[in-house]
Amino acid sequence: MNFQNRTVVLGVGGGIAAYKACELARLVVKGRGTIRVAMTRAATRFVQPLTFQAISGGLVLVDLFDPASEATYGHLSLARSADLLVVAPATADLVARLRAGMADDAVTTTALAVTCPVLLAPAMNTRMWRNPVVQENLAALRARGFHVVGPGAGELADGDVGEGRLAEPEEIAVAASRLLGNLDLAGRRVLVTAGPTREPIDPVRFISNPSSGKMGYAVAAVAARRGAEVTLVSGPTVLPDPAGVKVVRVETAEQMAKAVEAESAAMDLFVGAAAVSDYRPQRASASKIKKGTGEETLVLSRTPDILAGLGARWAGAKDGPVLVGFAAETEEVIARAREKLKAKRCDLVVANKVGGPGAGFGGDTNRVALVSTTELAEIEGPKEKVAEAILDWILPVLEGRRPKQG
Ligand code: C5P
Repeated sequence: MNFQNRTVVLGVGGGIAAYKACELARLVVKGRGTIRVAMTRAATRFVQPLTFQAISGGLVLVDLFDPASEATYGHLSLARSADLLVVAPATADLVARLRAGMADDAVTTTALAVTCPVLLAPAMNTRMWRNPVVQENLAALRARGFHVVGPGAGELADGDVGEGRLAEPEEIAVAASRLLGNLDLAGRRVLVTAGPTREPIDPVRFISNPSSGKMGYAVAAVAARRGAEVTLVSGPTVLPDPAGVKVVRVETAEQMAKAVEAESAAMDLFVGAAAVSDYRPQRASASKIKKGTGEETLVLSRTPDILAGLGARWAGAKDGPVLVGFAAETEEVIARAREKLKAKRCDLVVANKVGGPGAGFGGDTNRVALVSTTELAEIEGPKEKVAEAILDWILPVLEGRRPKQG
């Protein structure tokens, strides 16, 4: 996540989840952003302002009547500096006071004075969360343009189980960077393949695989959100076109190879997330093959390896595109990924053990390893999070290469 040149003001409410706001502040700092913190009095009962002061490197606003900070109109200076206000945890009390437009502490006053987007991360006990007055307050804030992330469901600090857990700091940070319109891929051209291919046997039968296309679509969507000009060459999927992405729909590996070829001029990054069939029936029958009584033999031919073709074409070229491949394996995942990195001459291979829980075909989450010649990093979570991590990895490599002209 990239928060460079952005100031996030963090309003911390008085709930047990306040300690998680420290991690959120740290993620903004890690993303090279500026974080400034306002706390309610109750929040300071859970976490010392000094903790946020140490993470943010700045004074924490708690007391509106503190002569030191109010000499410079502390609450207004915070509000003026904000590109985004994140309220985490947004307790039931804080949500009510925000809805009422009160200005009775450092957080609500800052919220009243900001003109930037506001992101609320609610956290409270499940019973409180379900209370209609809380939902009504949140609905009113949403209608007023406030954004909301979470809450998640699970075990709460008080032992109850259900909705009300503060969204994980990572999730809040991702939502924050989206609202900030993190455009670190602006001016870059990205070509993504996704989904399976279908290799016809006859007009009603084909060879394919269960790829849903979700991983590639997530890469395309995230790259577009981060400002890239994205073309997605997709095999047959049921997924809607991602916003702001040019989608070229194909069926076979050969069509996919042709579409990539046609779109590949001047690309900065190629992400081959498609599960391209390695073989196709040598001859597709023009009419439906009749059922016989005995065995049938299907002669298969190799399909073009799109990624390897690009790797061979750009091998050694300084201004070639960054090439990312995927490796779905059932065993020796990392070793196979390393082989693929070399054989297909790509910059990064995203290795994926298929068959394990929470990973692989069809699901909304993935567990992958990013394998390059120099690094090995493990990522787990929703496919969009994996897509963000892949693009985060690519960014410094891209920065070493000039954006393409034309
Ligand atoms: O060799 P394997 O199919 O395991 O390699 C997977 C990677 O190569 C994926 O990134 C996939 O999109 C790409 N690939 C391709 N063309 C093929 C086969 C695979 O681009 N014919």
